[in-house]
Amino acid sequence: MTQQLKLKVNGRDVAVDAHGERPLLDVLREDLGLTGAKYGCGEGQCGACTVLLDGAAVRSCVTTVADAVGMSIETIEGLGEGDALHPLQQAFVDHGAAQCGYCVPGQIMSAVALLRENARPSRAEIIAAMNGNLCRCCNYPSILAAIEHAASPK
Ligand code: FES
Ligand code: FES
Repeated sequence: MTQQLKLKVNGRDVAVDAHGERPLLDVLREDLGLTGAKYGCGEGQCGACTVLLDGAAVRSCVTTVADAVGMSIETIEGLGEGDALHPLQQAFVDHGAAQCGYCVPGQIMSAVALLRENARPSRAEIIAAMNGNLCRCCNYPSILAAIEHAASPK
């Protein structure tokens, strides 16, 4: 049965009519038009669908929309300010960290969660935090370089 669910997405209050058991990813993409988070495996294994819930990186393909009620949902669309990219988005551009780009929104959201928690992570800490975000283009060296650059003192 569908019900009206109130969500906070990228700082805005929105309401959707949805079955509470639907995947959050589905509601973000199909109901709210936020297509940044991607469908990859649909099983919580690849990270393409990563968004933040109260600041923590979660796999939105295996998170129900009901579980996101009352939490702050952040997607890649909410990161930049106007025309200005978020520093991690800019670092991904500058380091060529997108090939096909499919994994990139999820990579960036995981990296955002990491750097908020640990502004100066070691390389080992970055690798550990990003371990669940797969890149089928195997662009890992550039992704790592982008995150290290974003984390480095300016
Ligand atoms: S699509 Fe969600 S983890 Fe792969
Ligand atoms: S850039 Fe293609 S999957 Fe990562």
